Amino acid sequence: MTIFEDYLKSVEIPKLLKELGVPKIEALMEEVKHFTEKEAERRDKIVLSYFGEDGIKRIIDSVVQGLLSPPKLKENAKVLDVGAGSGFFTMKVVDKLRRYLPKAAFYAMDLTPAMLRMLTRKTSEITSFLGVAENVRGSVEHARKYLDVPEKFDAIFSTLMLHHCLDIGKVFEGFRKAVEVDGKAVVVDLCKHSFEEFREEMGDIHLGFEPELIKEKAEKHFSKVQVKKIPGICCTNSGRSAELFIAVMIP
Ligand SMILES: C[S@@+](CC[C@H](N)C(=O)[O-])C[C@H]1O[C@@H](n2cnc3c(N)ncnc32)[C@H](O)[C@@H]1O
Repeated sequence: MTIFEDYLKSVEIPKLLKELGVPKIEALMEEVKHFTEKEAERRDKIVLSYFGEDGIKRIIDSVVQGLLSPPKLKENAKVLDVGAGSGFFTMKVVDKLRRYLPKAAFYAMDLTPAMLRMLTRKTSEITSFLGVAENVRGSVEHARKYLDVPEKFDAIFSTLMLHHCLDIGKVFEGFRKAVEVDGKAVVVDLCKHSFEEFREEMGDIHLGFEPELIKEKAEKHFSKVQVKKIPGICCTNSGRSAELFIAVMIP
């Protein structure tokens, strides 16, 4: 058995969530169930079907550009993907960032063990741990009992996780507390849409977000926030399309 499987065996998600003081544990466990049963094995194919190769490249380029924008990350930066899922974007962002930051170290956090299991099967270069976006610091403290994870990160990024979170204000607060004072956070997610059925079909909690709302919520915790639509790309599912935004946040 691998160290990661040993670690997964020793963590009970409802107990961890209780320890982290997260409200609405049942709703979060529904998320875990959805991603375990409906997405973990198929996530990479699902992403490809939503965006196509061109769209995926555009998302990766946008995230990497956000991470490389000033202030400059140090050579040995510690970079965390929150809600990393099966690691589809994590691995591609890591590949690209390594060209600029060959000494950087990479970490992935997610609420769903089955998703992280897929990620760890693909690479041993990314340290994966369980946790909740609304309390990254507490999640990190918990993970440090088992794994080699730093206390804070120079950069945090997240793709397509925010609309699955119960309290997005808490997520931004959590990111701010987990990122170094000279670091940054980059979030990509869906713009506001009207497809109510995505709640049932995809376990979505929010039907995307107005970029203005993201800016307002993020500015409560970060001093500089830029939010813009990513041009020329949509998340398309059975003919239903939603635009994407990218938020770059500096403490
Ligand atoms: C739609 S998937 C995105 C996964 C990956 N980032 C991607 O783009 O393919 C959402 C992921 O967020 C995780 N997730 C949902 N709510 C979360 C929370 N509150 N904290 C941490 N992870 C969460 C799920 O387990 C799932 O792996």
